Amino acid sequence: MLEDLLPAWGGEEVVVRFDEPSATWMFVCVHSTVLGPGAGGTRMKVYAESRDALQDGLRLSSAMTSKNAMAGLPLGGGKAVLAVPEIPTGDRRRDLFLSYGDLVESLHGTYRTACDMNTSSADMDIVGERCSSVFGKTEAAGGSGSAAPATAVGVFNGLRTAVAHAFGDDDLGGRTVAIQGVGAVGEPLARQLADHGARLVLTDVDDVRAKELAQELDAETAGTEEIYDAECDVFAPCATGGVLSAETIPRLRSRVVAGAANNQLAEPEDADRLAERGIVYAPDFVVNAGGVIHLASLEMLGEDVAARDERLRGIGDTLMEVFALAERRGISTAVAADAIVEERLAPGRP
Ligand code: NAI
Ligand code: PHE
Repeated sequence: MLEDLLPAWGGEEVVVRFDEPSATWMFVCVHSTVLGPGAGGTRMKVYAESRDALQDGLRLSSAMTSKNAMAGLPLGGGKAVLAVPEIPTGDRRRDLFLSYGDLVESLHGTYRTACDMNTSSADMDIVGERCSSVFGKTEAAGGSGSAAPATAVGVFNGLRTAVAHAFGDDDLGGRTVAIQGVGAVGEPLARQLADHGARLVLTDVDDVRAKELAQELDAETAGTEEIYDAECDVFAPCATGGVLSAETIPRLRSRVVAGAANNQLAEPEDADRLAERGIVYAPDFVVNAGGVIHLASLEMLGEDVAARDERLRGIGDTLMEVFALAERRGISTAVAADAIVEERLAPGRP
């Protein structure tokens, strides 16, 4: 599996460990340390095959390089995946994260970890018992807690900028936003949008979660498949990756796509499919950088909340830079964002 996956990835190193007591494959993917330690969360998931886990880690680590460079942070990109046979609890979970902490510590700071899917600040506290390269521990343990609320603020800022670009003004009053996934990021995003007068259509595989929030915010709900056909101005993917595809893009009714999910495009050609339909796509790694901005600003750069918030507002400015380049060169926004990242990573850049 290494022969076909690693050369195409183009990253620096992958460290693999099989943790026998938990039967877990651990993959730490350090994509780039050009701008600083490779930083990105730890995803824990049950995968059909360990190959799928490695592939996920590789793609996500490369997106972190882009995200961190685009956010102007002194961080490279990385991601770790814990491919578990089932999601562990209690002592078994604790033992797994201690063992994982030893692995991250053995990398001497080339990789800095944090939370991601199915991992929490409490898990990072356990990792932190064994290693110092960890962001997002609980406040009780000296960390800055969950990054999700800051991610939601960043997505909100990006979404508003994309609305201004598509419609000529950033007023959200009367605009309709369809949110796919109302979890740790989608829910606070929905609240901010509702506060600014937007109408919402919500969906979640957890039907009760979507319905309860919809009731509270006076919003509509849609089925998880129907959301692609929902009449709306903005589609905000805040659940899983790969949701923008040859199958779903023709169905979208929105003029804007802006959301939190990592790796939203199923394949690179989907950026052109969106552009051909006249849909303004806010590249995922540009608008979902609020989480890492929160962690790096407060825990690494020694900044206060006001400085962090200034950086979160900067997401809108970065997005405008992307839109401007895309228009100037006649390329998709995704390709424009990649070009800016490439420039920032180029050797010899002042
Ligand atoms: P979460 O797990 O708290 O929420 C995801 C929600 O989506 C859950 O409510 C889940 O039931 C729902 N969901 C899953 N599959 C779905 C589907 N097919 N259709 C509809 N709903 C579905 O995760 P979180 O933290 O809110 O993250 C959301 C996305 O944003 C993920 O892709 C994550 O990688 C990305 N992200 C999160 C950041 C953070 O700070 N938490 C930072 C940057 C990106
Ligand atoms: N895992 C989140 C993301 O994908 C947040 C995060 C990023 C945390 C980078 C730490 C470092 O952006």
